[in-house]
Amino acid sequence: MAQIVVFANRKGGSGKTTLAFNVASLLADNGNRCLLVDTDPQAHATVHAGLEPLKITFSVYEALVSFLKNRQTVSDPTLSINSNFSILPANEELSALELELKDLQNREGVLKDFLLELESEFDYIIVDTPPSLGLITINALVASQYLVIPVKADFLSLVGLSQMMGVYYRVNALLNPELKFLGIVPTIFDVRTRISKEVLNQLRATFGSNRIFTPIRSDVKVMEASGHALPIHKYCPRCRATQDLQTFAVELLRRIGGNG
Ligand SMILES: Nc1ncnc2c1ncn2[C@@H]1O[C@H](COP(=O)(O)OP(=O)(O)O)[C@@H](O)[C@H]1O
Ligand SMILES: [Mg+2]
Repeated sequence: MAQIVVFANRKGGSGKTTLAFNVASLLADNGNRCLLVDTDPQAHATVHAGLEPLKITFSVYEALVSFLKNRQTVSDPTLSINSNFSILPANEELSALELELKDLQNREGVLKDFLLELESEFDYIIVDTPPSLGLITINALVASQYLVIPVKADFLSLVGLSQMMGVYYRVNALLNPELKFLGIVPTIFDVRTRISKEVLNQLRATFGSNRIFTPIRSDVKVMEASGHALPIHKYCPRCRATQDLQTFAVELLRRIGGNG
């Protein structure tokens, strides 16, 4: 059965999508069967994977709508990027999903029910979320076992964090008692600035050092890699962001394994 990890933070530009895509690719290249689920109508994870949202005919939106209609997952709803790495892509249409879900009784649990039938095909399912705390993000939190919150290391990002944690506690209490908060990853971390270090210290003081992953340093190669639709470990195997991502993947698996 797949382990399902969601990357969420209501703030855009936190590094969610970059982390979700790169971690899924890295785990896949390490021999794990990975599915990346793009639940953001902006479809940045989909683009990062080298797909053109406008040309996608079967997105996560179609998959969920068809599931709602027929109560079963169509066979093979995912797109294969390479032998171990598949994606459920998004496009703009996904923004209509909130409206379609709004009046349903099980409106928060549709993605969970849908993924149930795919779980045996993958070792890890990584869910990227939109920068909002609407029904789509709630569905992602309800469908997952593990939550990771990427945070850009600046003070404004800390402000939104308590709200994100509040949502986690509510979802955990009311909708998904299985959801475990694994921790916060400082992203786009500029080691040269005092503000980055202050934010890191504040995060450690607030949440405890064992809830703060090793930061992912800011690296222009990360942006270049996304422009080439490549994961950073393939685009620049020796870059600092690649080293940090590898460290993050190890920490993530250790925490999923229950030792972290
Ligand atoms: N480690 C990093 N170093 C440099 N730029 C990064 C890094 N991680 C993410 N970025 C860039 O920051 C921007 C926001 O990242 P993104 O993953 O799209 O955030 P979100 O999904 O939270 O909106 C993107 O342009 C991305 O390329
Ligand atoms: Mg994003």
